[in-house]
Amino acid sequence: MLVRHFIRADESAIPPALPLEGYLKAFRTASKTPWSNRLRDKIRRSAMSPKYINKLNGKRVIVVGGTSGIGFATAEAAVEYGAIVVVASSTQSKIDNAVQRMRKSYPDVGDRIRGKAIDLVAANVEDQMTSLFDFATEGGKYSLDHVVYTAGDFFGPTPLSEVTGDKLAASMKLRVTGPLLMAKVAMKYLTLSPLSSFTITSGVMDSKPLPGWAVMAPVVSALKGLTHALAHDLKPIRVNCVCPGAVKTEAFAPLSEDQQTAVVELFKAKSLTNTVGTPQDLAECYLCCMNNAFMTGSELYADGGYLRH
Ligand SMILES: NC(=O)c1ccc[n+]([C@@H]2O[C@H](COP(=O)([O-])OP(=O)(O)OC[C@H]3O[C@@H](n4cnc5c(N)ncnc54)[C@H](OP(=O)(O)O)[C@@H]3O)[C@@H](O)[C@H]2O)c1
Repeated sequence: MLVRHFIRADESAIPPALPLEGYLKAFRTASKTPWSNRLRDKIRRSAMSPKYINKLNGKRVIVVGGTSGIGFATAEAAVEYGAIVVVASSTQSKIDNAVQRMRKSYPDVGDRIRGKAIDLVAANVEDQMTSLFDFATEGGKYSLDHVVYTAGDFFGPTPLSEVTGDKLAASMKLRVTGPLLMAKVAMKYLTLSPLSSFTITSGVMDSKPLPGWAVMAPVVSALKGLTHALAHDLKPIRVNCVCPGAVKTEAFAPLSEDQQTAVVELFKAKSLTNTVGTPQDLAECYLCCMNNAFMTGSELYADGGYLRH
């Protein structure tokens, strides 16, 4: 392990990038000198200085759809890494519950977790988005670092005979129009930097649909196109989409226990891992989209190998 040199030339003759053992030896020598305490602290700080785990520390993050499932796990993960998080969704009771659950898990950081209601299919959605961003930035006092969009409602296969224009329009409104308008509003609040990100949620059913996915497949596909286009329109802010395979979340709740088991078994059998995903598995993808300053216009898959099966 190498430790980068940080000590001013007048303080020490220790050369740059010494092996850790070298620094420890230098530390033992240094501890006999009058400036030993200062040097020891600097050595300790340098040797321990994290490059990865602090990336979200103090960053402001909004998770739209963060009150359940994948979004909730992503919000939790961001809080755990030190971010100041706002979760948003349409139901006040779910917001209160999500904030309460996170504050219980992370009692020391309760003031970093807040929630705000937004209905992404309302007629005045852009006004509601502006209120959400004002809330998260305390009226524009702080800039925003990351936006994650995981909002979605219950979905499942629709037999072709039951497809209607309204069903497709409703799916498009929440999943495609929502993030597009949100990008429009977010660009006024996000810090203009490749360190900032805007991440949306797509899927895998465009590439490998099952029977009955004619409504959702074009939605999923549109989200990938939206990602590629927004990466240009929001640059240098990065835009990516996460593409989950089957993930067991609260979205399964409208199904009976038996139906849930059947869906889980179906997708387990179609994976290479013989599992369905957990919200926590997916949270890792959103963390990557937030933390990787070189990633934009990308589709990040976590599907247990569904697409390779
Ligand atoms: N789970 C999977 O297998 C899977 C697979 C591929 C893709 N996805 C996609 O991943 C995303 C997250 O899925 P999930 O399973 O985590 O779903 P989930 O647990 O049902 O969470 C959906 C979130 O969206 C919010 N929401 C729904 N309608 C809204 C509206 N009109 N306005 C604002 N917020 C709204 C919900 O809160 P409220 O009810 O309070 O509004 C909730 O917070 C969805 O877009 C889904 O299509 C999921």
